[in-house]
Amino acid sequence: MKHTEIVHVLQTEPTINELKIRGWVRSFRSNRFIAVNDGSTIKNLQCVIDFENFDQDILKDITTGACIEITGVLVKSQGQGQTLEVQVSGIVILGTADPEQVKLTILSPKRHSLEKLREQAHLRVRTNTFGAVMRLRSKLSFAVHEYFQKNGFNYMHTPIITGSDAEGAGEMFKVSALDPKNPPLDDKGNVNYKEDFFAKETNLTVSGQLEAETFAMGLGKVYTFGPTFRAENSNTSRHLAEFWMIEPEVAFNDLADNMDLAEDFIKYVISYALENCQDDLAFLEQRLIEEDKSKPAVERQEMTLREKLHFVIDNNFKRVSYTEAIDILKNCKPNKKKKFKYPINQWGADLQSEHERFLVEKHFKCPVILFDYPATIKAFYMRLNEDEKTVRAMDVLFPGIGEIVGGSQREERYDVLKQKMKAMDISEEELYWYLDLRKFGTCTHSGFGLGFERLVLFVTGMGNIRDVIPYPRTPGNAEF
Ligand code: 4AD
Ligand code: MG
Repeated sequence: MKHTEIVHVLQTEPTINELKIRGWVRSFRSNRFIAVNDGSTIKNLQCVIDFENFDQDILKDITTGACIEITGVLVKSQGQGQTLEVQVSGIVILGTADPEQVKLTILSPKRHSLEKLREQAHLRVRTNTFGAVMRLRSKLSFAVHEYFQKNGFNYMHTPIITGSDAEGAGEMFKVSALDPKNPPLDDKGNVNYKEDFFAKETNLTVSGQLEAETFAMGLGKVYTFGPTFRAENSNTSRHLAEFWMIEPEVAFNDLADNMDLAEDFIKYVISYALENCQDDLAFLEQRLIEEDKSKPAVERQEMTLREKLHFVIDNNFKRVSYTEAIDILKNCKPNKKKKFKYPINQWGADLQSEHERFLVEKHFKCPVILFDYPATIKAFYMRLNEDEKTVRAMDVLFPGIGEIVGGSQREERYDVLKQKMKAMDISEEELYWYLDLRKFGTCTHSGFGLGFERLVLFVTGMGNIRDVIPYPRTPGNAEF
């Protein structure tokens, strides 16, 4: 007999037919009740044994963390906490787990901090919280593809190893096959990358945007969804050195179209999660409610997790120009009372996450799309506005997260782009192909990047980005 996944078992009616399940023991109480979880759902299946009928040798191996196979009959549960349970007729121990050693791990059945879970990242998928987050992450990935595929976008695989710095920010991990102890040198004594694997300097991509633009200029609508890498030394709860980014790029879209796309896309994937991940969201919501109980009243959430998600779907994102935002920030209480670490004194200032969060959480109290930023604080490829001071950039800001999306209408005019690259010291030689797009049938086009982990953070209500990716890469940490 083939085993059935617990998620399906819990959807069936009790019958006299036997079934088989496999999974990991979460707990074994009173020599009678085994809680088994197989990862197909957050819910455990209660399996009840008459211990008198089983060999002591088998019973002693039913311990937390062990992997077992159970045969039995599904019946209505007598006890509280579950409607169905399995009356066990057979048990096979597939893999034991020594209780003395389990005690030292996060598998032991008690509350462990998220920090502790991170230290044992290879085991944390067996906990309720991380299991729920990872199932949601998987569903959200699917929703991303479904949204774009339903709307006529082509999925594009952009290179992981590149020779360009798409963001012009220089925060890149080098890729080299040279011997670091004895690299070949050129006449000037510098490392000679001409002798390296690719015969040039290369790095891990920071963004697939530039390559995505080349495809948008032929396929019309494309999107990428892949890993990106940033060697920025940001040790925060919202930064990773390796994160997954979704980057749509669309020919003929202007900035307003780009905002519409971002808003529609985000609402779609959140709705998808609400519809398809009910058990996991209910669990994560309860987790936050419990967490709130230990906090002072002012720090408690006004909305539950699912209320927050519905709020985002049901309301328009507020669209505000950078200039308006600066006015608000200049005159706001925390700025006047010098509560910001980076005070806002003048137009042109770069916005820090404290400012973004003030706008979203305190001032507008809803997701905000900021647009038309000063050219000086944004990347070279953004389209210059008629005022010649601002560019058609947009950032989507979310409560509790700050920036979740960064995007823009692209500079499609050859001369203007060339000038901007020169001014910002971006190599024309390296990016000749990017300039070519403006020579051969250029057109208005736009796109954006959404940091996938920041989306998962928002949907799951987790507080640290390290807890929404299987194996986080952050400054000083690349274990597993
Ligand atoms: O704003 P960013 O840097 O924009 C770009 O890379 C553009 N090329 C995107 C485009 O227009 N196609 O990054 C986009 C998003 C941010 O809004 C944020 O959500 C996420 O990527 N992000 C990070 N997420 C986690 N860790 C980091 N270190 C991140 N840096 C950016
Ligand atoms: Mg950005």
